Amino acid sequence: MTHAIDPKDVPSQTDRDFSTRAIHAAYDALPNQGALNPPVFWSSTFAFESAAQGAARFAGTEPGMIYTRVTNPTVQTLEERLAELEGAEAGLAFGSGMGAITSLIWTLLRPGDELLVDLTLYGCTHSLVNHLLPQFGILTRSADFTRPEALSEHLSERTRLVLFETPANPNMRLVDIAAVSAQVHAHCSALVAVDSTYCSPYLQQPLALGADVVIHSLTKYINGHGDVIAGALLGRAELMQQIRMQGLKELTGACLSPMDAYLVLRGLKTLPLRMDRHCQSAQLIAERLAQHPAVSQVHYPGLESHPQFALAQRQMRLPGGMIAFELVGGVKEGARFMDALQLFTCAVSLGDAESLAQHPASMTHSTYAPEERARHLITEGLVRLSIGLEDAEDLWRDLNRALEVAIQSPGSGLPFLF
Ligand SMILES: Cc1ncc(COP(=O)(O)O)c(C=O)c1O
Repeated sequence: MTHAIDPKDVPSQTDRDFSTRAIHAAYDALPNQGALNPPVFWSSTFAFESAAQGAARFAGTEPGMIYTRVTNPTVQTLEERLAELEGAEAGLAFGSGMGAITSLIWTLLRPGDELLVDLTLYGCTHSLVNHLLPQFGILTRSADFTRPEALSEHLSERTRLVLFETPANPNMRLVDIAAVSAQVHAHCSALVAVDSTYCSPYLQQPLALGADVVIHSLTKYINGHGDVIAGALLGRAELMQQIRMQGLKELTGACLSPMDAYLVLRGLKTLPLRMDRHCQSAQLIAERLAQHPAVSQVHYPGLESHPQFALAQRQMRLPGGMIAFELVGGVKEGARFMDALQLFTCAVSLGDAESLAQHPASMTHSTYAPEERARHLITEGLVRLSIGLEDAEDLWRDLNRALEVAIQSPGSGLPFLF
């Protein structure tokens, strides 16, 4: 039986809710032999009908596949779905979050150019911009982005890129995306790039707030299952094409495997459900940590005590699944706490089903020299938690027990970790 459908009754992609688009955007089963899931195109290269067609694809005058380092149908489905979710004209997928960041930087910056970054960045991004880029004649300046009104003094006509994370890894400082984007665009022609890894497009949409580029480590919440390393950039189509043909194809070669693109597409389908659960459990745990006598400070944007609570309410759908906190006493107690955890895994990364705990100063942010950590607001006693999808009460029992161990057994003889 056929039904006459009035085209006006068919909702466009953008009329659909985020959760619907996370499952359906950019893929249609019927032209793919009815396959409910996008096929994985296991091919490094793609045949041309003729030499003329090959030449046209290379010249960019005819769309189509050439070689998987440039693009691949499975990877393209992921790029288009991510663009749809982030409200971007186009997306680009990479073999890691760092691959995305380096491809962006190498495409945009030349010797003599300046990059302006926030004080707190993920350890490898910090090392890249502050330790390695100067070797190539690129000057990195850092400033406190929580004071957007003071940024103009750090901007010049040489500033090509302004880069920050919000929330920042690991200390949960927030940056006002709209205010920083407005400041930068009023003073120079630099592009504003936001690493939104802690949020995923479900919690925060930087492009709608005035940013030019969104960066994601897809390794984290977007894939969500701890089994893939991947990254993405989202932004204007022309810029993404430039980065594809320079940063991805030639400068880094950091392309994503089609199988990994498939796994990320699979993870994406449940992103809203997972994020809601991560955030709900993190809120409960942050509130209890804040009441615990063994904890001196909790950094979580869902707590009214967070200095940017009001910004979090404005900028983020929910406050996220990451918590940072300081133990009473400091580093020795921190080591005892981490070793006493039984359900939380002591591991870096974030956004997985499994809850993870790590010590940034000795692990993810050990790329900072100790004096840099102090300058960049990363304390030695900070513990970072990625709240997973386990039962929140089970998680709290594990944390509560480890906190008791941390404060009750001085000189336990456990190794002095940090
Ligand atoms: C905020 C942030 N950006 C970028 C990255 C790098 O991503 P990847 O590990 O996928 O290269 C990470 C990794 O932890 C991160 O936390």
